[in-house]
Amino acid sequence: MHNERKMCGVKCITFALWINILSVITEKTDFELELTPPMSVKHVGTDLELICHVKGCPVNVTFKWRALHDKFHGGKIKDEQTVSRLLIRNITTEHNIGVVCKVTCKGKTIEKTSNIKVFSFPQDPVLPKIKSLIANQTQKLSCTVHNVYPLERIQIEWLRGDKTLFVDQPEGSFNNVQSYSSVFSYTPSVSDLGKNISCKATLNIAEIGLEKTRNSNAEYGPGTITISSNNPSVKLGEHLEITCQADGNPQPTILWWKEETEPAQIKSQNEKLIINNASRSQAGWYRCDASNAVGSQQRRVKVIVLGG
Ligand SMILES: *[C@@H]1O[C@H](CO)[C@@H](O)[C@H](O)[C@H]1NC(C)=O
Ligand SMILES: *[C@@H]1O[C@H](CO)[C@@H](O)[C@H](O)[C@H]1NC(C)=O
Ligand SMILES: *[C@@H]1O[C@H](CO)[C@@H](O)[C@H](O)[C@H]1NC(C)=O
Ligand SMILES: *[C@@H]1O[C@H](CO)[C@@H](O)[C@H](O)[C@H]1NC(C)=O
Ligand SMILES: *[C@@H]1O[C@H](CO)[C@@H](O)[C@H](O)[C@H]1NC(C)=O
Repeated sequence: MHNERKMCGVKCITFALWINILSVITEKTDFELELTPPMSVKHVGTDLELICHVKGCPVNVTFKWRALHDKFHGGKIKDEQTVSRLLIRNITTEHNIGVVCKVTCKGKTIEKTSNIKVFSFPQDPVLPKIKSLIANQTQKLSCTVHNVYPLERIQIEWLRGDKTLFVDQPEGSFNNVQSYSSVFSYTPSVSDLGKNISCKATLNIAEIGLEKTRNSNAEYGPGTITISSNNPSVKLGEHLEITCQADGNPQPTILWWKEETEPAQIKSQNEKLIINNASRSQAGWYRCDASNAVGSQQRRVKVIVLGG
């Protein structure tokens, strides 16, 4: 055989190899290897069990596990007669590998590879509380995503209501779990007021069909207070209605107080201050208090009662 190959050269060797391969394929054996799952997308910190199953081998086999290209980072192996289980606990970014299960039966070796893709995106983005958002006043806002992998695949979108304000993406290549803060200089416009400001983070690893989005709304205290009339006046015995509005998240609660009374009196527990059958004693300064868990804001208005 050796001599023959030496004599007939490269073409002949290729041919001889072909014949060998064909003879392996056509050799009547039902020996099969199944490795499940063939591919897994796993979050950092989770566990994964790979099962390597031999079918049709009449003798007991030994299983060998290894990493495809890289170092093998741990795992517990449990062998039974025809099944070997590899349990990987607490997956880390180092498990972004192919794991190979190899079995030899009667001189014939089969191996199968299971690919593991690791990601990390454990929690919603974090936005610090904002004291208030006031039209035309610029301020820096920040939004942080914690413990993300791979960080270069995250995109951060700032929104007010449905409108995109700014899109941001970390630059570079990151080989471990990392955090990232997007900082944005925001100048609210009058038409933006009243809408939620939110930070939407998307981790997109298209090659493995992974797209995860997490969203957080900023909490902010009342900023601009709008009162429906700046110089309200009402004729004696008539009716007056004034509205006070403030934006904020959570939605601020509104209280109307009558000042210059001792003690000050609550006149309304919602946006509307209603005066029916106006009398002289109802004239004077009123105060609208808007408050939520983040802050409070107030504005005063003087009601004039005419006539009499
Ligand atoms: C395989 O191993 C088991 C015990 O591990 C033994 O009971 C069984 O007889 C073996 N089978 C063969 C075919 O060697
Ligand atoms: C998982 O692995 C990480 C990083 O190696 C470690 O900090 C953490 O304590 C581990 N958690 C568990 C439950 O073993
Ligand atoms: C904000 O700026 C715009 C344009 O510069 C102006 O028209 C508007 O009156 C300003 N609004 C406030 C509340 O200052
Ligand atoms: C704004 O965000 C809060 C949660 O932070 C939510 O409860 C509320 O429904 C949102 N408002 C709108 C208009 O989407
Ligand atoms: C309105 O107020 C005046 C003075 O307090 C009172 O005499 C009158 O009965 C009131 N009218 C109504 C409709 O309540």
